[in-house]
Amino acid sequence: MAYLSFARKYRPKDFSSVIGQKHVVKTLKNAIKLGRISHAYIFAGPRGVGKTTIARILTKCLNCKEGITDQPCGVCENCLEIDKGSFPDMYEIDAASNRGIDDIRNIKEGVNYAPIKGRYKTYIIDEAHMLTREAFNALLKTLEEPPPNTVFILATTELHKIPETIKSRCQAFLFKPPTEEEIKEYLKKILENEGIPYEEEALLLIARYSKGGVRDAASLLDQVVTYSDGNVSVKAVEELLGIVSDEYINSFLTLIKEKNIKELIKQFQKLYREGVDLNIFWKQLLDKIHEALVEVSLGKEHPIFTEEDIKDLIYIESIFRKAFQEASSSEEPKNLYELTLLKLNYIKDLKSIEELLKSGVSISKKATTVEKTSTQEEATEPKKKADSIELAIQKVAKDAGKIIAAALKKTKIEDHGNNITIFCDDKLLQILQSKLDVLEKSFGKPVKFEKLQLKETKKKSKKRDETVDKVLDLFQGKIITYKEGGQ
Ligand SMILES: Nc1ncnc2c1ncn2[C@@H]1O[C@H](COP(=O)(O)OP(=O)(O)O)[C@@H](O)[C@H]1O
Ligand SMILES: [Mg+2]
Ligand SMILES: [Zn+2]
Repeated sequence: MAYLSFARKYRPKDFSSVIGQKHVVKTLKNAIKLGRISHAYIFAGPRGVGKTTIARILTKCLNCKEGITDQPCGVCENCLEIDKGSFPDMYEIDAASNRGIDDIRNIKEGVNYAPIKGRYKTYIIDEAHMLTREAFNALLKTLEEPPPNTVFILATTELHKIPETIKSRCQAFLFKPPTEEEIKEYLKKILENEGIPYEEEALLLIARYSKGGVRDAASLLDQVVTYSDGNVSVKAVEELLGIVSDEYINSFLTLIKEKNIKELIKQFQKLYREGVDLNIFWKQLLDKIHEALVEVSLGKEHPIFTEEDIKDLIYIESIFRKAFQEASSSEEPKNLYELTLLKLNYIKDLKSIEELLKSGVSISKKATTVEKTSTQEEATEPKKKADSIELAIQKVAKDAGKIIAAALKKTKIEDHGNNITIFCDDKLLQILQSKLDVLEKSFGKPVKFEKLQLKETKKKSKKRDETVDKVLDLFQGKIITYKEGGQ
């Protein structure tokens, strides 16, 4: 028999074996029980977290020969064909390669026919955000007059690219990456079923490195099993991923805290000579720094950093992250990373941003305004805006971490259509400002900050402060317009 990857072999066949996505599963099961199936759903979320899987399970629920049920039998002809992907009433369309009006027209014509074998036809449109505007318009007409016995499921990794008009006619579910613990349990089940020995810690490591992607975790497990001749050990995972041990990362963090630049460079060069993948190492470091920042900010104990380090950590995280992003397009990341380590020397020169703000720098809209193109520009109801803000916050949590998202939640956010204004106090401003790029990416529009309590703006000398330049330089000048005398 052909070799089947773990991800495919262990695709859940019913709701009970889906991990995470509790709210999606619960709502769908209830809808099935109550006979309140919507004619169109949006499944939004990152790759490999169960969108297609659940779309198929839903198809089974609607078409199992035993009757409409939230627990399809799994053995009837229809259930089996759906598992194989050969059921004639389930249409799986990849919008990335069928983006155009003709493709949607085909669907539109097809929906008029009754199901061939089952009770319901399902159209699973993957990467739905890739459809062209014309295709969306055609789809919209279909959704406006929903054909009977047809369920549309639009799966997307980029909900914000789906036009509001479409969204408003669908029931949307936000799929979240399952937790590391949940993924670990899933991997464990696979290995136990396969009779392959493993170390529990190794599974946790795999879960951590797949960052919530269940498919990625399963593929990684495939690789480790092959690489390690069938014993999934921490050592095998570390070797395969080219990662260094947690212990080593912690000793590196201690040097960072001590700003022991000399030793840092020495250790770093040693890793380089040993052939460690520097990008992966840097990412490990970054994750640990982020973790420390979150823990310390939440008042938790951390073995290396304390509350006094928060400002340093914010700065370190921001320059380390920047280096990581730049390294992805660089042939030789070593120099870039070394330079970043050297910058740690300048932390002590860094004046508190709060002080700077008091002395007249204010954060304002980015100079360049992004041209908006899509239908998102249409005026939307407050609820929609609230939803899209909520979604943006989730993206932020994913891209910049939970603490930034938490900070964002403490602010007042106004969606003006073309741009976003965030009202917050100085402390939050300081945190959020360091993530301006992520915020703008997540909201998909320029972001500007306003202070929550309007303090009187002091008139200050027109000459730009030297420290301002220094800080701009250190933060690599994402930002900002320099405002004079309270414009
Ligand atoms: N929530 C989940 N529970 C269990 N397995 C999952 C889950 N999400 C993804 N998988 C695994 O990953 C594979 C790909 O999942 P899929 O549903 O196709 O992801 P996507 O969200 O990209 O559509 C599945 O075959 C399954 O093995
Ligand atoms: Mg999919
Ligand atoms: Zn069945």
